[in-house]
Amino acid sequence: MNDLSKNLLKTSPSGVRNFISVNDVSDINALIQKALAYKAAPFKDKSIGFNKRIGCLFLNPSMRTRLSTQVAAQNLGMEAVVFNIGAEGWELEFEEGAIMNGTTIEHIKDAAPIFGSYFDILAIRTFPSLKDRDEDYNDQYIKQFIKYSGVPVVSLESATLHPLQSLTDVITIKESLQNFHKERKPKVVLTWAPHIKPLPQCVANSFAEWINAWDTANLVITHPEGYELDRQFTKQATITADQHEALEHADFVYVKNWSSYAAYGKILSADEKWMLNNKKLQLTNNAKVMHCLPVRRNIELSDEVLDGASSIVTLQASNRVWAAQAVLSEILVPIP
Ligand code: CP
Repeated sequence: MNDLSKNLLKTSPSGVRNFISVNDVSDINALIQKALAYKAAPFKDKSIGFNKRIGCLFLNPSMRTRLSTQVAAQNLGMEAVVFNIGAEGWELEFEEGAIMNGTTIEHIKDAAPIFGSYFDILAIRTFPSLKDRDEDYNDQYIKQFIKYSGVPVVSLESATLHPLQSLTDVITIKESLQNFHKERKPKVVLTWAPHIKPLPQCVANSFAEWINAWDTANLVITHPEGYELDRQFTKQATITADQHEALEHADFVYVKNWSSYAAYGKILSADEKWMLNNKKLQLTNNAKVMHCLPVRRNIELSDEVLDGASSIVTLQASNRVWAAQAVLSEILVPIP
């Protein structure tokens, strides 16, 4: 039994609760339970965000993350203000000591404290460049919002991780495990899928990190040669280039494309044989199929799988609200 009265997010050395990765969570199972309690009763804490504002800043596009965070905030009585800073704001400079004679107009050092003065919580989406691996994996953008804003920061997907998506994913797996026999851990397979564009590794990194930290399922990752993820996230997961072997007896199959980490940001394969179809699903233990969405139909995932009974992608996306609500409620409680 989890203790829901304890703090489910850790407090940073500066005294705020951020949500940037699984490392900010003190009890994953309790956070899942909290999210599922909100799913059962969305408005039970509708006054804890009274007179509080969250600023949702988007440097990159979004549908689910943007809307689910707004709905979650409103369920808690907060006002959510969305600013598409990447499209509508001044172009931000993040380099320390920059001589700003190029395209950037405002330094993060100047902008972030202003956001912090307008909002009680900041939530930020910032994609990687996929050009400079060291720069991307340093996650400087989100770190500088934390450093200079002075308020709690929630990642709506950073250069390396997508923690609200991953919390949603474990909530969805937990929900789908209700009738699972307890003699063994479920087998969760993360499979690479083809795509026409180079995509970040964030969702895959984050999913691996959360499944490893949750320690409730056995994780197998399968991808073509050259698509190995950063080992700091995959840790003890089994990794294989044999997708058929990976799919055998799987209980969950998480489908996702990512570009190469080794040949950073490159597409090394577009092999359509990696797309999941019903024939491959027959290798599994009647597996549920997951994808974070948006998905390119018949490139990443076939119509027959997405439209079939195995797909839980809509359930997964709908759970984004409860994940965000659980996290925001944990951040709100200590704010005076
Ligand atoms: N899964 C996800 O993050 O969706 P959006 O990009 O639409 O927010």
